[in-house]
Amino acid sequence: DLNLKGKDFLALADFSPSEILGLLEKAKKIKELHLSGESYTPLKGKTLGMIFEKSSTRTRVSFEAGMYQLGGNALFLSSNDLQIGRGEPISDTAQVLSQYLDGIMIRTFEHEKVEELAKYASIPVINGLTDLFHPCQVLADLLTIMEIKGELKGLKMAYIGDGNNMVHSLMIGAAKVGMDFSVACPDGYKPEEKVVNMALEFAKESGAKIVVTADPIEAVKDADVVYTDVWTSMGQEAENEIRLKAFAPTYQVNEELVKHAKDDYIFLHCLPAHRGEEVTAGVIDGSQSAVFQEAGNRLHAQKALLVELLK
Ligand code: CP
Ligand code: NVA
Repeated sequence: DLNLKGKDFLALADFSPSEILGLLEKAKKIKELHLSGESYTPLKGKTLGMIFEKSSTRTRVSFEAGMYQLGGNALFLSSNDLQIGRGEPISDTAQVLSQYLDGIMIRTFEHEKVEELAKYASIPVINGLTDLFHPCQVLADLLTIMEIKGELKGLKMAYIGDGNNMVHSLMIGAAKVGMDFSVACPDGYKPEEKVVNMALEFAKESGAKIVVTADPIEAVKDADVVYTDVWTSMGQEAENEIRLKAFAPTYQVNEELVKHAKDDYIFLHCLPAHRGEEVTAGVIDGSQSAVFQEAGNRLHAQKALLVELLK
């Protein structure tokens, strides 16, 4: 049995391979219940606060709907309206919210802010995306791969593009579950070295092979999963033009590039996507794309997480 009650979910690095796989098993069961129309309400009377300092479609709606489906409630808290926006310390906010709520999900810029919130909160804190990590997305991604491929260990994932929060969490997740992971990024946009080193450590235990290269063809070669994300993440809008020049056309996932992947490769993207930039319409809207199943799995994966942390 999983024993995650009261824990924070800030980064996949804090969880063992069996805890990650356990969450995925739980998510599968919760998804089956949901699809069969059976109600499952273990979080009756529980409230999740959701602090957003950045935009969101999937994260907000899947957490909110997920809490309702589990019998609880969710509160959308925009940082523009909270006193944090006017300088109330995170530490005070954490202690106050802990008096009212059963859990906090937060999406913000600096990862340290989430760590600070978790340090002072007496209730579980869930990372709904920081500049460094996006662990909830990777739970949904792994669930999707498992559903389609039947396994995780021994597969190869290729990530092409910006060495951002997504690639950091994917790399740690892959290393934990024993999936080979090759990432191709241009110079200046590589994943952070401290994260790569963490992944290499976890990979030693799982047997996964982690490769960082500048060559998209090398990365995609024989991949089971091809993944990309936007070239300009939230908060980097001022760099948009310079980033376009750094990534286009070499780091675009297009019909030509995916020829190097396995014939039965699947395409994943956390969304939102920019067709014609990091991926062509032909690939993301093609028959091997699983991006909507992936987006749907945010709901089921996070419901599993909420039940385990808050029950
Ligand atoms: N993938 C993801 O987190 O999407 P949102 O920004 O819409 O939440
Ligand atoms: N890397 C993107 C992911 C969005 C879900 C961002 O941080 O904006």
